[in-house]
Amino acid sequence: MASTSVLTEDFENLLNSELDISRLKNKSLVITGATGLIGSLLVRFLLYANRKRKLNLTVYALVRNEAKAHNLYGSLLNDESLQLVVHDLKTAAAVNIEDRVDFIIHAAAVTASKVMVQDPVGTFEVALKGTKKMLELARQKKARMVYISSMEIYGQPKNTTNTTEEDLGFIDLTNPRSCYPEGKRACECLCTGYSAQYQVEVVSARLAQTFGAGVLPSENRVFAQFARSALKHEDLILHTQGLSEGNYVYTADAVKAILMLLYLGQPGQAYNVANEHSHLTIKAMAELVAQVLSEGQSQVVIDVPQNSASLGYAPDVKMKLNSKKLQCLGWKPTVALPEAYLKLAQWFEEIKA
Ligand SMILES: NC(=O)c1ccc[n+]([C@@H]2O[C@H](COP(=O)([O-])OP(=O)(O)OC[C@H]3O[C@@H](n4cnc5c(N)ncnc54)[C@H](O)[C@@H]3O)[C@@H](O)[C@H]2O)c1
Repeated sequence: MASTSVLTEDFENLLNSELDISRLKNKSLVITGATGLIGSLLVRFLLYANRKRKLNLTVYALVRNEAKAHNLYGSLLNDESLQLVVHDLKTAAAVNIEDRVDFIIHAAAVTASKVMVQDPVGTFEVALKGTKKMLELARQKKARMVYISSMEIYGQPKNTTNTTEEDLGFIDLTNPRSCYPEGKRACECLCTGYSAQYQVEVVSARLAQTFGAGVLPSENRVFAQFARSALKHEDLILHTQGLSEGNYVYTADAVKAILMLLYLGQPGQAYNVANEHSHLTIKAMAELVAQVLSEGQSQVVIDVPQNSASLGYAPDVKMKLNSKKLQCLGWKPTVALPEAYLKLAQWFEEIKA
């Protein structure tokens, strides 16, 4: 995939934002999950910043599937600053990087709800083994690390209208789908342990649902399904009642948050990464997409399938994330939901997804 205009615009905005990219000068970074949405965007942005700002970066992109990485990065792989590390985090082998590593961003995880319910044991295993390996690497290299966590760790929070980092709620451990949020909790706990016991400088970034320019052509999460349907003027089908409240953050704003946490986050701490203005129910979001992208042609239709449990949807949740802790580090989100959808549509048009 080539760098396209909407992405270039986002990357330029990032370079001119409160993100002080010069702090990465001469640094070496490892990014896991580098064929995924968040990981690939980070890699692309870092390579872009490297070219534009002459940062002398080395970016190690850890991928499980080499062919997928070649397909995704194409000619970017000719860039000497980019090194592929092919590794399956589920295996027992350690991640081996001979050179210096200054920063690690651990973004690899099982993220498809369907896989979570079909293989909860594997989902949990990738989370724990993968995070432990990356923490060991951070310890060995004395690198700073950001662990990419999720707002799903809150479960059903008690404080539903202003959910801060302290407001952990209930997660039903008898539901196999809980392997994902509970796995994230366990990994955050491991991060806290490595920070306390081994002084590893690690921070958790609890991401809200992240989308916008840069999502992969294969993306099939609900925001992408809505956007594709609305652009074709087809109805938007909800497989739940749509009552769950979503919290969102635009892709480039998430990249900015993760990089700022990499050098400004307090070790052992966790930070919500959400645009506080991007909060609404799934149904309201479907209505917004229909309005913004289909010129009113698409309708929102609720059609709950009989086998909905096997699809692995997260339980309905009421939650409005508070991101003041991150804002206190100087982070400001720039793109709210209507514009995020317009940018996503432009991106889909450019990559013809
Ligand atoms: N995108 C979001 O909206 C969102 C929201 C909250 C949290 N997160 C978290 O952010 C991180 C990145 O998410 P994403 O949206 O990029 O997901 P993604 O599914 O696009 O990417 C995940 C990546 O992890 C890799 N991976 C999975 N198992 C692996 C293994 N055994 N060994 C090596 N690599 C493996 C996959 O190959 C893929 O490249 C994840 O930890 C996810 O839980 C994402």
